[in-house]
Amino acid sequence: TTRKRLVMGNWKMHGSLAANAKLLDGICAGVAAVHNSDIAVCVPFPYLAQARDNLRGTGVSWGAQDVSVHEQGAYTGEVSAAMLNDFACQWVLVGHSERRSLHAETDEQVAGKALAALKADITPVVCVGETLEEQQSGRTTEVIARQLAPVLALGADRVAGLVLAYEPVWAIGTGLTATPEQAQAVHAFIRGRLAELGAPQVRVLYGGSVKASNAGSLFAMEDIDGALVGGASLVAEEFLRIAAA
Ligand code: G3H
Repeated sequence: TTRKRLVMGNWKMHGSLAANAKLLDGICAGVAAVHNSDIAVCVPFPYLAQARDNLRGTGVSWGAQDVSVHEQGAYTGEVSAAMLNDFACQWVLVGHSERRSLHAETDEQVAGKALAALKADITPVVCVGETLEEQQSGRTTEVIARQLAPVLALGADRVAGLVLAYEPVWAIGTGLTATPEQAQAVHAFIRGRLAELGAPQVRVLYGGSVKASNAGSLFAMEDIDGALVGGASLVAEEFLRIAAA
């Protein structure tokens, strides 16, 4: 594969100024030993300035965990892509399963958020994935296709500028990782859709209980281009071991 690996931490709603300072220091201290992988962290909004100040020039990039579909206006509590630009964000997660399930984000809204980010030159990391019930009833590819449809409808030029993340909901924070073969099968499906569209270089990350002990076997798969890491990204040594796997 010619696609460069990307290992991205999603801190979710964890951290404090003090804890982040230690974590970011730890990541920066080990990053020189990591080759062949881009490394990034997606932090809570209030810590974007801290991430920027601590990571600028280190080779570790940073981003946010959500973005508004709107450019500006009366949207209390929302954060625009232009605001993320003010903090030099390279990335923003959109459509994480926790946003979809806890905040009822629709496939169309997720695609709208991806477009808002792209227009601001921020790379959206669009998350897709099926629930346990959907998986058990054999509907995985149907669900992924439905979630991807409005994103792929943005067209090849737009899609070429984003990253996808496959995160089976049943593997998130549960300790249950998809087997490399299970994940690869879905990644191959997604890769096929990207090839049809004419955007073959888009990276597709895997997420869901990734840790140092399973990262190597996941990354050995043809169509797995990196990882979106939750819990294990909160420990610098573990996160670095994943990036180096
Ligand atoms: O965005 C990250 C995923 O939700 C995975 O979380 O590594 O804690 O299972 P996890």
